Amino acid sequence: MTKYITTPIYYVNDIPHIGHAYTTILCDMFKKYQILKGNECILLTGTDEHGQKIENSAKLKNIDIKAYADEISSTFRSLWDSFDIAYDYYVRTTDDYHSVGVKRAFEIMFEKGDIYKGYYEGNYCISCETFFTKRQLVDELHCPDCGKRTSPLKEESYFFRLSKYEDRLLEWYKENPNVILPLHKKNEVIKFIENGLSDLSITRSTFKWGIEIPSCVNDEKHIIYVWLDALLSYITPLGFGNDKPNRMEIFSDATHFVGKDILRFHAIYWPVFLMSLELPLPKHIFVHGWWIRDGIKMSKSIGNVINPKDVAEAYGTDIMRYFLIREVPFGQDGDFNQKALIERSNAELSDSLGNLLNRLLGMSEKYFNLKIKSSNFSYLQNEINEVEKIIDSLDFYMENMTPNRYLEELWKIFNIANISITKYAPWEMMKHNKSDEVASLLVFIANILAKGALMLYPIIPNASSKLMNALGITKDDFTNLITKNNLLTSFALEKIPPLFPKIESPKMQDNVLKNLPTNTQNITKDLKEEVNIKQFEKLDIRVGRVIEAKNVENSTKLLVLKIDFGNLGVRQIVSGIAKFYKIELLENTLVCAIINLKPSKILGVLSEGMILSASSEDGKLTLISPKDEAEVGSKVS
Ligand code: MSP
Repeated sequence: MTKYITTPIYYVNDIPHIGHAYTTILCDMFKKYQILKGNECILLTGTDEHGQKIENSAKLKNIDIKAYADEISSTFRSLWDSFDIAYDYYVRTTDDYHSVGVKRAFEIMFEKGDIYKGYYEGNYCISCETFFTKRQLVDELHCPDCGKRTSPLKEESYFFRLSKYEDRLLEWYKENPNVILPLHKKNEVIKFIENGLSDLSITRSTFKWGIEIPSCVNDEKHIIYVWLDALLSYITPLGFGNDKPNRMEIFSDATHFVGKDILRFHAIYWPVFLMSLELPLPKHIFVHGWWIRDGIKMSKSIGNVINPKDVAEAYGTDIMRYFLIREVPFGQDGDFNQKALIERSNAELSDSLGNLLNRLLGMSEKYFNLKIKSSNFSYLQNEINEVEKIIDSLDFYMENMTPNRYLEELWKIFNIANISITKYAPWEMMKHNKSDEVASLLVFIANILAKGALMLYPIIPNASSKLMNALGITKDDFTNLITKNNLLTSFALEKIPPLFPKIESPKMQDNVLKNLPTNTQNITKDLKEEVNIKQFEKLDIRVGRVIEAKNVENSTKLLVLKIDFGNLGVRQIVSGIAKFYKIELLENTLVCAIINLKPSKILGVLSEGMILSASSEDGKLTLISPKDEAEVGSKVS
């Protein structure tokens, strides 16, 4: 039976960062493991290119949306190619076959009576492309997932009857308790369902960048909600609803890898959509945590992202893969820390594994000219039993998605090998003419490294291949060496350069978060000179929505904001609020700004206006933001 694995498809509003690389590497690892075991396995990845967020990002850059999506999608694809990610399908939601399939799915759901027309009133988080009821919001305004300000939304919409499937969904989870791993993540989902599922708005009519609803519905102004569109990308490349070669049979053994932020979409909406389409439900949803820095999720707008390309260039893809997989228990958050990466590489890859190979090669060359042979391992029987027990346990750890445990256990066999060398001291045995025993020990160690090399292939494929070459084995030896608990009796070894040379000092500039500013703005308590209304009216003050906020280089005080003023366009304004606002929370905030102030450059950055803020005596700035939703571009007087 063929296994089918998917990464989430990545939004093209952002270039890839280490969080995206993590999901993709995990999937590639799982695929490589299946292939090693002799299973057929198909991997899908791709990009999610519709929705308001992407429309806004392209608008911000003043480029055609499709051209923008093309560029970022190809950045993702070439990154995966440069990392040798073994994907079989690369889906883009702007591909024609995909929109044909999505429209077909909509038609089926509509014909079945699962879709009806209604009116949506609630709040929307553009960043998460998610609808929320007031009850779900933080302070009735902010997104419970990312903390950003949501926008009230009132629009005619088509709804999917999620509520109709509530019981069936709960029943399915009861009958299949291991679908969601780690298990505690399942409990969150069950609680959410038990609180009651509201029908889901699945169309939008206030912007255009999406797939139109099919003609059977005959309602041109609606486009399909980005999450319905995106989730269907798992099946449209397999020929669902379009004329691509049909491989839908592999969907009956599907495993989705997702970050914890998108679990709800995969664990609630997706199975229900599949029920409506009468398709098989996923076998597994593996949920990983976030890579964070200083407690904050990495994101481009905060400027705390780590580019996987930089890591790979500095340390190589094997060390990057090893660190990502080994450092954090699957499902938990992890701090990406260069020091920790170096320490792990030096202690585990260089000392424990690399050095073991060196010792084996060194002694085998000295005593046996690199050709080692033995079939009598009697004095090593305890060690052999221990190694076999460990190797037997590994499949459980991988299949249940605890790859850090898999590695932890695997390293025990290298420790057994290193300890055996010290314990039996082959150099002493040679002095006492026990060369047969020495040969047995070296063959045993070569077997440990051979088993290790195979089991490491999914995690560090390049080093594993080099190791296999040095030992004269291939991946085809897997069944022989792993599933039968066999020991090979002879090796023709080959000397190779050190697998993992020690890393002496950090190779990457640590792009740490910029320090928080210490300066405060000068304020004056003095009353200003009187003005008349005419003078005041000279100021053109407007409401705008922040669509991007970034630090100004070399400044601890300044932020540069891109603000949407509706018909008046997007303007860039520099403001001294860096100390008082987390930039990731500014996005989507309404502000008031004077827009007819003469443009000027502040620290070399163009500023086309001034944002209004209240300043307290101690210099704290508080943005003046309309209390209720006000239209962007509207006048403030
Ligand atoms: N487009 C949606 C997914 C649609 S799937 C039908 C999306 N895209 S995303 O680009 O925002 O995120 C893709 C994946 O990257 C998610 O699984 C998310 O959890 C993961 N990561 C994004 N930032 C991350 C970290 N900082 N750390 C680990 N993974 C995180 O959501």
